[in-house]
Amino acid sequence: MKLATKHLLTIRELTTEEVLGLVARALELKQGWPKGFKPRPLTDKAVAMIFEKSSTRTRVSFEIGVSQLGGHPLFMASRDMQLARSEPLRDTARILSRYADAMVVRTFGQEVVEELATHGSVPVINALTDKYHPCQVMSDLLTVHENLGDVRKPVYAWVGDGNNMAHSWLEAAARLGFELRLACPEGYLPDPEILGHAQTSGAKILLTNDPAEAVEKADVISTDVWTSMGQEEETKKRLKAFSGYCLDRKLLEKAKAAAIVMHCLPAHRGEEISEEVLEGPNSVVWDQAENRLHMQKAIMEALMED
Ligand code: CP
Ligand code: NVA
Repeated sequence: MKLATKHLLTIRELTTEEVLGLVARALELKQGWPKGFKPRPLTDKAVAMIFEKSSTRTRVSFEIGVSQLGGHPLFMASRDMQLARSEPLRDTARILSRYADAMVVRTFGQEVVEELATHGSVPVINALTDKYHPCQVMSDLLTVHENLGDVRKPVYAWVGDGNNMAHSWLEAAARLGFELRLACPEGYLPDPEILGHAQTSGAKILLTNDPAEAVEKADVISTDVWTSMGQEEETKKRLKAFSGYCLDRKLLEKAKAAAIVMHCLPAHRGEEISEEVLEGPNSVVWDQAENRLHMQKAIMEALMED
């Protein structure tokens, strides 16, 4: 499967068919791997990975995913690059494009991945910015598909910050037309442009300050940390603002009995999610983390195959 877009900076760049096609392909790669189905579309290709923020899942799943596809991953913490000594992004993009066949980038501003995409000549994959986390939500769709079937049918709830994850869920809703209810405290609402785009796309979007209203009879409940990377100074203020937003047993009881609980991890037990819910029978977080590998392989194959 070839994508119309050259880069994956946001889910908005994908068509509905491409989102569904990537979910199907990721599942094929996942199920095929133990049976010996091991396509190597990245043979003789290298992927430059620039990380400006910490990572466990994204880094490891991309590095291992690239090698499973036959390619060579090259991890670079941005502080070790000349970027940290003010080498311009546009120069970095042109240089890396001479060596590597794609860039995987985790950074702060969305404009950083956009600039690398503009000035480089190879595909750029957003591995998380302050604004979006497209690879995570694409992987999460695979997890929903495995548990509940057609990803367009469930009712999705988001409890917590109107952050990068919430934004990517809104973009997924816009593409797939599903019902998405977001419970966010005042002052931590999603970006109005991203919200507006989803609201005018045909998806059913509800924004509320009441977690119980969002979760009522929902099929999929997702949450995330209250303080994202780069916001550490706001931790105290956020702890206060998000009180009442913990995904605990009482809140989960409002959802459908078979609802799945998702968290992109790392989790702060006792803050956005209780230990009991994270480790409980509705939680699919470990499969969710594994699925990063399979979905990102599908994405790289679709962007990089000759
Ligand atoms: N979920 C996620 O992106 O995890 P890491 O920060 O560990 O990569
Ligand atoms: N919203 C979180 C996600 C971490 C994977 C952050 O940006 O830190």
